[in-house]
Order: sequence, then structure tokens, then C-alpha cells
Amino acid sequence: MDMSTKSGVDVGRQSSIAESNLTPNQIVSQLDKYIIGQKDAKKSVAIALRNRLRRQNVSDDLRDEIMPNNIIMIGPTGVGKTEIARRLAKLARAPFVKVEASKFTEVGYVGRDVESMIRDLVDQSVAMVRSERSEEVREKAALLVEDRLLDILLPPVTPSHETADEENGEEEGSESTANDGHDKSVEVNRRSRKKMLERLRNGKLEDRQIEMDTSGDSPGGMMQVFGPLGQMEEIGGIMQDLMSGLPRKRKKRRVSIAEARKLLEQEEVQKLIDMDSVVKEAINKVEQSGIVFIDEIDKIASPSSGAGGKGPDVSREGVQRDLLPIVEGSNVATKHGMVKTDHVLFIASGAFHVAKPSDLIPELQGRFPIRVELKSLTEEDFYLILTQPDNALIKQYSALLATEGVDLTFSEGAIREIARIAAKVNESVENIGARRLHTIMTNLLEELMFNIPENFSDDRVEIDETMVKEKLNHVVADRDLSQYIL
Ligand SMILES: Nc1ncnc2c1ncn2[C@@H]1O[C@H](COP(=O)(O)OP(=O)(O)OP(=O)(O)O)[C@@H](O)[C@H]1O
Ligand SMILES: [Mg+2]
Repeated sequence: MDMSTKSGVDVGRQSSIAESNLTPNQIVSQLDKYIIGQKDAKKSVAIALRNRLRRQNVSDDLRDEIMPNNIIMIGPTGVGKTEIARRLAKLARAPFVKVEASKFTEVGYVGRDVESMIRDLVDQSVAMVRSERSEEVREKAALLVEDRLLDILLPPVTPSHETADEENGEEEGSESTANDGHDKSVEVNRRSRKKMLERLRNGKLEDRQIEMDTSGDSPGGMMQVFGPLGQMEEIGGIMQDLMSGLPRKRKKRRVSIAEARKLLEQEEVQKLIDMDSVVKEAINKVEQSGIVFIDEIDKIASPSSGAGGKGPDVSREGVQRDLLPIVEGSNVATKHGMVKTDHVLFIASGAFHVAKPSDLIPELQGRFPIRVELKSLTEEDFYLILTQPDNALIKQYSALLATEGVDLTFSEGAIREIARIAAKVNESVENIGARRLHTIMTNLLEELMFNIPENFSDDRVEIDETMVKEKLNHVVADRDLSQYIL
């Protein structure tokens, strides 16, 4: 995860429109770092992503004809559907949003209109590009900030007495009246600035208090627009944009140099970034490489049998119809401008326990031509999930306790036992996939987590098989109990 964000910065602006040019094979092996198994799904998303890159290199006239390979991922809960989509977006350095399809069934009440997903995508993209650009100008901004800090510490025109002196440094410089002394005082000033700069860079002044102008909250920031409809949010956004153009109230504050540096840096970065071009690039990014993940798409399908269906089917079918133009490609108005959705990649996912993909309206089915099935996870998978991924749970817990100086390890037998229990509870109670590992681990480690640091003197703990059994077996044996606890 860290890796992809870092490289996102390294590669910089030129390649941020074009997606990272990983081959399908490389994409799969990147995904392998985080997701165990699910080969088919990984392959499909890798191909879809690569095809979009390929598309960008096709000659103009044909390019617009080539549609993205929208995908439906079908599989039980907790087997990695969302995780695959999220990791994919990170790899592609593409704007990404995840929405729950069922949210759109209640438009006008608590739900949102379907187009809001594109607006969110654009917002996300703007934030992304903006932070990339900030990264690029950070060094430049830091230099400007140093200058401004020096101006505060040593006001530019100073009388001839030595101002490098710490305590007088903050005094307002009174106009030098003697003209012939002026050159000298400029020279003195230059030297004391140099000295001051050195101390600033050495971090000697970080705690020192200075008084500075800070821009107060933008007036728009105070305002919130409430409303049930998605459009209202837009109005809120537009209003805020208008308001942010108004001059901000500036007020004097006393802050430490360290704080001042942060505040000034924000201001300088803001000034160095050309927001118009950020927005332009952000929209381009959305249009060329955006990814929308629509979760729970099965919840808006109407099972033909009608069994288990809650709520009016009209509304669900309505949502499907609303989705059509967006998935097919249309123009969506956002506060940053019109956005074409033709080449946004849509990945839908659902368990499809009750409804089948064939219960979606045919037009929508046609727009998700690729279907992949994700498999239930086995005991062996759980073992691998606990140990292999870069963000494996075992690694997470060890890292947490390492911060308190405790070295937490798990014996091979313990990990096998946790995997066995996870598979067993999934089978006997309810299959919640890899999420089961979370509940088991929290249970297993609860006491330890609670007792550290006060009631704990060792600097290392090894969880072994016996400990796992002692802690969990009585729960597992009792079905009722495990329903509540695990
Ligand atoms: N195959 C896997 N390999 C590694 N971790 C996994 C795998 N499957 C699931 N996980 C972990 O389990 C958790 C839930 O996974 P995820 O959110 O992808 O489930 P999902 O398939 O989207 O389920 P739902 O249908 O409920 O949305 C995440 O923390 C994820 O890291
Ligand atoms: Mg999910």
C-alpha cells in the first residue's frame, strides 16, 4: 500500500494521466501481495485495466469505439471482492469510488441520486491531483516559507543595532532615518538573516513563539447546506466555491515556529498550485482512468421468484435504469464541469445468493460483459491470509505491540489452529469469509491488548497452539456462544 503511494509521487505528473503501465501479469503479481487466491478475478481485472491502457494508444477514430470491460464479481461475503477493486485502483493510481447500489433505492429520502457517484469520483480525483501537485511544489514552498519566517523574525528594514539578538528579533523595525546608515544596516540585516536561517534550519527555533497573520476560516467553511437530494450537495459546493473567492478575514495569532511553518506552507503551496489546471487534469483522469466500484449490485436485482424481496421492485429496477446511461457513457454535470463517463471502468459486485445476474435488466447485463466468480475461502487460504500478505493480520498485531516494546510472535501450530477454527466457525455458524479471522484474532488477543502496558512485564510473547485452544475451543464447541462471540 505504502509502496504504491510512494511511487505515485516519484513518477510525478507526466504519467498520472496514463495509467501505470503494468502488464496483466505484473498486475496480478502486485495483487498477489495482498489477496490470496481468486486467480480468475485477478486476471479479469488485470485484463480490463490493461485494455484501457491499450485503448489509449489506439488511433483516435477507433479509440472512442472501444468500450471498457466492465466486470461483475460474484462471490460470497468476505472473500476479497472489494479488496481486489481497491488494490487495483491503487495500482492504477486511478480515481476510485466505492458505492453501495442499495443506497440509490431510496432517492429523495436518505438515498442519493445515481450521478452522485461520478461527482464523488471527480472530487476524489481533484484531491488526488492536488496532493500530487503539492508534493511537486513542496520544496519550493519550503524555501518561500523560510523567507517568510525570516521576515517575521527579522523584519526586513531594521535600524542599525544588532537584531540577530534573539529577544529583539521580534520587534517591529522602526524606519531608519539616517540615510547614510542605511547601506550598513542592510548589510547587517543580510548577515543576521543568514545566521538566523542557519538556526532555523538546525531546528533550534522550533519552539519559539512568533506572532503571525493567519487566514481565518473561509466564510464558506462555516456554511453547510442540508438537503435530501444530491443536487443540494452540488449547490452547497457551488456556494462554497463562490464564498471562497471572497477575501478571507485575517487575524493575528501567536504560534510556535513549527506551527507557523505548517500554516505558511499550506498557504504557499496553495499559491503555487494552479487550481484550474488541477481540475482539468482531474477531470481528464476520471474520464480516462476512473474506476467506480458498485457494491451489492444484487440488491437492486429483482429475483424472478420474488422470494425474499423487500421493498418495491419498481424502485430497484428504477435504479438499474438510472445506472444505464452512466455505465453506457453520458455527460454528468459536476461542480468542476461536465464529465464524460464513456471510459470509466465499472466493477460491480454482489453475493447473488437470492438474485442471479440474469435477474438484472438485460440492458444492464449487457454493459457488464465480464463475469468472474470468487471462491469461498478454505482453511489453507486462511492460513495464507494470516501470514502472507504485506498487511497480514499477524503482522499488523505484531507491529501494534512492537510500539509498546513487546515482541509478539505466533507459533506455526497457533496459526494453523486459528485457520482451522475460522474455517470451522464459518461452516457451522455463517460463512463471513476472511472477516472471520478478524473476530477470532480480536477475541484471542483481547486480554493481551488490554493488559499491555501496565500489567505486563515481559518483552516478548509467543502465542502457541495450546493458548489458542484454551482461549477459543470452548467457544467454538458451543454453537450458540460462537454466534455471539466469534
Ligand atoms: N482472498 C483474500 N486474501 C486476503 N485477504 C482477504 C481475502 N478475502 C478477504 N480478505 C480480507 O477480508 C476482509 C474483507 O474482504 P472484502 O472487503 O474484500 O470482502 P468482500 O468480498 O467485498 O465482501 P462483501 O461481499 O461483504 O462486500 C478484508 O479485510 C480483506 O483484506
Ligand atoms: Mg465488499
